[in-house]
Amino acid sequence: MPVVAGEAVRKKSKPSVRNRANAIKPFVCKNLIAVIEAPSDIKNIGTVIRNVNALGCEKIYVVDPRRALPDDWQEMREQRSLSATSVSAVKWSFVKRFDSTDDCFDHLERNNFHSVVTSPHLKGQTNIWLHEGDFTEHAKLAVWFGNEKRGISDRAVERSDACLAIPMFGIIESLNLATSSGIVLYEVTKQRREYQSKFRKRDKRGERSEPLPTVMGREENTRLQSKSLGKDGA
Ligand SMILES: C[S@@+](CC[C@H](N)C(=O)[O-])C[C@H]1O[C@@H](n2cnc3c(N)ncnc32)[C@H](O)[C@@H]1O
Repeated sequence: MPVVAGEAVRKKSKPSVRNRANAIKPFVCKNLIAVIEAPSDIKNIGTVIRNVNALGCEKIYVVDPRRALPDDWQEMREQRSLSATSVSAVKWSFVKRFDSTDDCFDHLERNNFHSVVTSPHLKGQTNIWLHEGDFTEHAKLAVWFGNEKRGISDRAVERSDACLAIPMFGIIESLNLATSSGIVLYEVTKQRREYQSKFRKRDKRGERSEPLPTVMGREENTRLQSKSLGKDGA
């Protein structure tokens, strides 16, 4: 039987961790995937996984032509470098690797996902500032982040709907990969969480009589925070 994200960990984990895993479930953004294209630094992969987990994005895909990651998520969860850099978030957020950008797009499109890419530069036909985008339009959305040096590939731009940019006000050309994933996913998850709190289905169908909460109560959050999760080295 296939292992569901976090299921095996939940079985083995302490009740306090299981309680938290259950409490955060309704806040996770369904059908939202972060994709990192050809990252070269394992620390960045770990930090993006940590951001994905912390912000309630459902999954992360890694285009990994250098084969830096094992094929199987179970093995990734046991890989020390990933576990350390993601502060164990890799144990809870499902990670899938692909050999190439096209393989990843083929898989996403077969499963009816729309993609948007991110870049500090103008790329392709449709360029959007992050704060002006509507990220609830598509029921299934993948948000792509590019390589640390080269940025997002032309192929990814070609196969995506739009390119998002975080406005920049400094001298430096771009933000760091992991930092930009945190900023972009914060906005995208905030919008999608609000949407799923109000509607059960896509296209604003299945409106709930009472919207669900979009954040966990501060006290409950503190109570459920487990010392065994997210021991921070950074
Ligand atoms: C260090 S940047 C790559 C810089 C590279 N020279 C380029 O041309 O994009 C790594 C990734 O972070 C994301 N990124 C960095 N700054 C961004 C910004 N201002 N807006 C949107 N994404 C950004 C993009 O996904 C980018 O591919």
